[in-house]
Amino acid sequence: MSALTQTLYLGLDLKCPIVAASSPFTGAVASARKLEEAGVGAIVMRSAFEEEIRSEIASIYDDLGDIGSAVALDYLRADLPMRLGPQRYVELLRAIRREVVVPVIASVNCTTSEQWTSFAKRLEVAGADALELNVYDIPVDPEETAEEVIRRHIGIVEAVTSTVHLPVALKISPFYSSLPNFCLRAEKAGAKGLVLFNRFLQPDIDVAAPAIREDVHLSHEDDIRLPLRWTALLRGRLKCSIALSGGVLSGEGVVKAILAGADVAYVCSALYKGFGVVGEMMSYVDKWATDHGHRRVDDFRGLLRETNFTDGHGFERAHYMNILAGAAAKTAPTDEEGRASADKSDRNAWEWA
Ligand SMILES: Cc1cc2nc3c(=O)[nH]c(=O)nc-3n(C[C@H](O)[C@H](O)[C@H](O)COP(=O)(O)O)c2cc1C
Repeated sequence: MSALTQTLYLGLDLKCPIVAASSPFTGAVASARKLEEAGVGAIVMRSAFEEEIRSEIASIYDDLGDIGSAVALDYLRADLPMRLGPQRYVELLRAIRREVVVPVIASVNCTTSEQWTSFAKRLEVAGADALELNVYDIPVDPEETAEEVIRRHIGIVEAVTSTVHLPVALKISPFYSSLPNFCLRAEKAGAKGLVLFNRFLQPDIDVAAPAIREDVHLSHEDDIRLPLRWTALLRGRLKCSIALSGGVLSGEGVVKAILAGADVAYVCSALYKGFGVVGEMMSYVDKWATDHGHRRVDDFRGLLRETNFTDGHGFERAHYMNILAGAAAKTAPTDEEGRASADKSDRNAWEWA
């Protein structure tokens, strides 16, 4: 393990701060092995889905209907969620665990804490080093209040952390009315880490058909800006681990994530260029650290977190007024006299501010 890149995440020792995010690449033994060879510090398995787990349990409940004794039936039903679940996922976890040395983080896509949570116990027994809960939830019920959504999500953390001893990370969206408060509540509920952020499929519309276009949508370099800002804003205000996920496509992205205060940088879209990208990223981090006089990633972790800025020039306002006024001046269309439209743009900039 290189002293420079050694990283602690969820209490786990990682040899490097680049983690293979949950995706089809982390859903097979062969690719998990190749990811380890490529140098990732940990592997987050592709997610098991709450719906899959529930439907498997439901079909077994149905089969139990033929058992004569009501008492035996109740006993078996009560015990079922502890013993059953998507068997294939558990077997895959065991197989990956056997093949690789790096920590393996199991993952569940979930929206509620109902019924499926005891499946977490099976993942623990099968050898997961940690568990990631991907709260893949788009609340669409207008009757459900923000507080009810938050309680539902925090309820998942409470249910799982009371079931397993594994470190539990919560992979969340940025769409909470008070993200810092939600994160604090998640931490108090027992989450050992937050993954900022998950990414929902964003279907497009094919106007020719017309139909919904469902395709894999990979990240762009600029996508890092949202998780970067929130990592910097939250680091220093929370004790738990933070993983930055979204738009880490190069070594520069990894350095940015660490400067903002992330413990690790997740990569998924970058892996579509080939797993060799992990080595390239680490070479960049090594060189950048050496050029800047750092001997370990811990030395520059969080240097640019918000709580290090006391003059209001950090990520929160980010020179808001200067930047908007400057952008307006640069982009203002000029009319023949060069006055009226420039004035209008300036006014717009102030209206936004
Ligand atoms: C094809 C594909 C499948 C994914 N599957 C999962 C999944 O099963 N569970 C999950 O938590 N995230 C999943 N993700 C999201 C990634 O883990 C990651 O959070 C997201 O792609 C942003 O990171 P990136 O910018 O490095 O791609 C998937 C992403 C892609 C592109």
